[in-house]
Amino acid sequence: MLDPKLLDQIIDVAAVAAYKSSLFKGKGDKNAADQAAVDAMRTQLNSMRINGKVVIGEGEMDEAPMLYIGETLGKSDHPKIDIAVDPLDGTTLAANNQPNAISVISISEEGMLLQAPDTYMDKISVGPNLPNNIVDLDENIKNNIKNLAIAKKKNIEDICVCLLERERHNHLIEDAKSLGAKLKLISDGDVAGSIFSSLKTSEVDMYLGIGGAPEGVLAASAIKCLGGQFQARLKIQDDNEIKRATNLGIQDFDKKYYLDDLVKGDVIFCASGVTDGELVSGVKLKDKEYETETFALHYSQKFFKKVKKTYQL
Ligand code: FBP
Repeated sequence: MLDPKLLDQIIDVAAVAAYKSSLFKGKGDKNAADQAAVDAMRTQLNSMRINGKVVIGEGEMDEAPMLYIGETLGKSDHPKIDIAVDPLDGTTLAANNQPNAISVISISEEGMLLQAPDTYMDKISVGPNLPNNIVDLDENIKNNIKNLAIAKKKNIEDICVCLLERERHNHLIEDAKSLGAKLKLISDGDVAGSIFSSLKTSEVDMYLGIGGAPEGVLAASAIKCLGGQFQARLKIQDDNEIKRATNLGIQDFDKKYYLDDLVKGDVIFCASGVTDGELVSGVKLKDKEYETETFALHYSQKFFKKVKKTYQL
């Protein structure tokens, strides 16, 4: 089990990264916004009394000098922690000052998070209190919507499906439309998108489609804490991706992952808003301080709250 005291420190990691990134909000430079978040997360994590290893990060060592997969962080031998980060999910959203840009991190005990390569992943998620596998990655979207509508005692017209607005999803979008379901198309940010269906406050009933694999593991961390369901499969596209996946110990590229395959055991998840969004509010600058809002979850402690914190500038 993860020490509950870690939660507060992980909130700080996400919150400070969100603040640093927010300084580039609306400046049209997504790389600068991302780099600011990366630097801040790395500095914060290095100051913690943990023996951390990045399992989901900015890429492999040769392409990412900071927060690369395998980088060790922290200033202690103990406890051994796996770290998954997306310092800025929605780099374009932040650069354009659009909603739902967040700084995201999850941690587990050693070996408990899937080391996913930086490839695409096919995903489907629904919220809590539904029969197991009520929707299925291998079922077509129309049947998934129909089954979900029956389980939720809703009309199909009231079922809201969230997808990234991408050409690769056109057939899914058309199928959902032809059935009369409601769509919520997002331009970016599928960590938040995947989580929406597990939130009482969101109209989204189901998230599906292809997005980043690292984002998938992060979303799974939150969905596990919220009691939702999530299934995923890597979408390996070429020999280079086969090599990267193999290097991380993945042998079965067609494996269907369930929540407990992606996130075993206890997990802490934090997402802080860079810009205002449906999950959390963005950073608010005040006189000599700034305020952050973090969606903070700790599985074993059944802790899920939005936490506002104020930091001195
Ligand atoms: P960045 O923050 O790295 O720009 O990623 C945004 C994002 O929308 C992710 O949330 C999502 O998983 C991925 O991009 C989808 O990739 P693509 O834009 O190639 O469809």
